[in-house]
Amino acid sequence: MATLAFDVYGTLINTHGMVDLLQRYIGAQKALLFSMLWRDKQLEYSFRRSMMGCYEPFYRCTSDALSYCVDALDVAITPEQYSSLIEGYKNLPVYEDVVNCLDSMSELDEIDIYALTNGPRQDVERLFEGVAIGQYFKDIVSVDEIKKYKPDPAVYQHFLDRTGSDAKDSWLISSNTFDVIGASTFGMNSVWVKRTQQHRMDPWGRPTHTIGSLSELGTIV
Ligand code: 2OP
Repeated sequence: MATLAFDVYGTLINTHGMVDLLQRYIGAQKALLFSMLWRDKQLEYSFRRSMMGCYEPFYRCTSDALSYCVDALDVAITPEQYSSLIEGYKNLPVYEDVVNCLDSMSELDEIDIYALTNGPRQDVERLFEGVAIGQYFKDIVSVDEIKKYKPDPAVYQHFLDRTGSDAKDSWLISSNTFDVIGASTFGMNSVWVKRTQQHRMDPWGRPTHTIGSLSELGTIV
């Protein structure tokens, strides 16, 4: 029996799915930079909050990071546009390799499929509903249950406890290098989804496997 823990934001769900909207609001020149800084700051705030013992839900990290970007990149957006961006984050698109991968994984015997995410359960349920992938998951395990963010080892332990799994039979599947390294260091198997050539592993990262797309997952587990 293998237990799969799919990361959500950045692995299943495209966190840069609002670049088109950003282009309309702030212009093509700054849109991608804005989107990347927004994501980086969101994660940085989650790491910092976890280390400080000042947990706030992931949507708070997202909205604080958005405010930071508006200020740091000196862009003018209206309160309505700000609200649309926050609302848009609750309805981000799925990567195109996701549905086929989940479809074929769910047909295999002896495999349990979970989501393991920084997002609170209700936010992830809504995302999954929007892109019609909720039915593939046995459950959503959220860091919100223990108020600590990935890559704190307590998160991966919580996943094993919640799912009744052993680390040696569990696989974290993520495009986020901090998550891959967190799970590997904890003792789980890891699959790094390296979606682009520009995407780099940190020098100290040793994923169990690296794939270029989720369509290759079936060759591993
Ligand atoms: C997630 O936990 C790391 O943002 C990523 O879904």
